[in-house]
Amino acid sequence: LVQYVLDKHERPMKDLRISVIDQCNFRCTYCMPAEIFGDDYAFMPQSELLSFDEIVRLVKIFAQFGTEKVRITGGEPLMRKNMDELITRIKQVEGIKDVAITTNAVFLVRQAQKLKAAGLDRVNISLDAIEDDVFKKTNGRGIKTAPVIKGIEAAREAGLPIKINMVVKKGMNEDQILPMARYFKETGDTLRFIEFMDVGNHNGWNMDTVVSKKEIIDEIHQELPLETLEPKYYGEVANRYRYKDGSSEIGVISSVTDAFCSSCTRVRLSADGKLFTCLFASEGYDIKKMLRSEEEDKAIISKLVKIWTRRDDQYSIDRKNKKPVKNKIEMSYIGG
Ligand code: GTP
Ligand code: 5AD
Ligand code: SF4
Ligand code: SF4
Repeated sequence: LVQYVLDKHERPMKDLRISVIDQCNFRCTYCMPAEIFGDDYAFMPQSELLSFDEIVRLVKIFAQFGTEKVRITGGEPLMRKNMDELITRIKQVEGIKDVAITTNAVFLVRQAQKLKAAGLDRVNISLDAIEDDVFKKTNGRGIKTAPVIKGIEAAREAGLPIKINMVVKKGMNEDQILPMARYFKETGDTLRFIEFMDVGNHNGWNMDTVVSKKEIIDEIHQELPLETLEPKYYGEVANRYRYKDGSSEIGVISSVTDAFCSSCTRVRLSADGKLFTCLFASEGYDIKKMLRSEEEDKAIISKLVKIWTRRDDQYSIDRKNKKPVKNKIEMSYIGG
């Protein structure tokens, strides 16, 4: 039986985003800058990560609150072993309708078929440039686009629906907006532009580095005429557009210039089992402690009800009026 709970803004708990590992094979400058995430950086030890049993137990609990969507994130989630096994188990949970993964695609070359067979519904792939010169800089590891393109092709061959995520940052890759749009218009994959956000503490964000939704759409529309589309589901983060020639669609995720907190139904779980009710929170609630201390599901459920009914988060709406939050969680820790 589903028990819906609403937070202070009447938002239900619909989507669960689970980070399964805090490590990544990339060092995107805006997410895990190499100067900070260096060779001696202390990532989480294996024993701190939630086990598959613990994750599945929580998914079952969330499903009782009406959660239908599960997104697997990282770091780079495919750096964790046996992800196909976890996906199979999550898909079996009653009430879970959609299981997706957010990845940089490099490991899809080897894993796409296996993940599809496990029941994965779709993939969102991060790619910030189509030209090697730019991409080598954005990923911080000098990696060319070819390994990512191959991963995208592997996903397509496996029959996985694909969305491409491109973070747009001024001075980094705004010259890639049109080349990316042209490329993915041809392949037919949905390309989504993401306004650069002030997540974490190390990415040097300020308003001048944001390329707004309006700027992005105007630039594309001039060359490739667009029309707007309705959202596919309540609370979708991306505004959708379609090329007038009907070839494919694009999206813009405008958390800075047009916040979407009012319909934010997302709850996030870090790889070490802390629960966050907002991407911009500074502290999470330690669920792992409950999982590992013989607590029954009942106790966890009543804790979740307490956390969710008190939830008042709307950081992106408040951004302009409030002082910046200190010690925000890192994107690589919570998975975006
Ligand atoms: P779909 O289910 O395919 O619509 O996925 P999604 O867009 O919810 O997930 P994805 O991991 O692809 O998210 C893309 C980007 O949107 C994230 O990396 C974030 O930059 C941004 N985003 C997603 N959810 C939130 C949110 O709750 N708040 C803010 N501020 N940004 C978000
Ligand atoms: N602003 C916007 N998007 C970001 N991502 C990581 N850091 C930021 C940021 N500061 C995106 C990644 C990926 C998703 C999980 O989060 O590019 O697509
Ligand atoms: Fe890795 Fe994604 Fe962060 Fe880039 S944005 S460093 S690919 S987790
Ligand atoms: Fe949700 Fe927080 Fe993002 Fe607003 S800023 S959409 S409340 S996660």
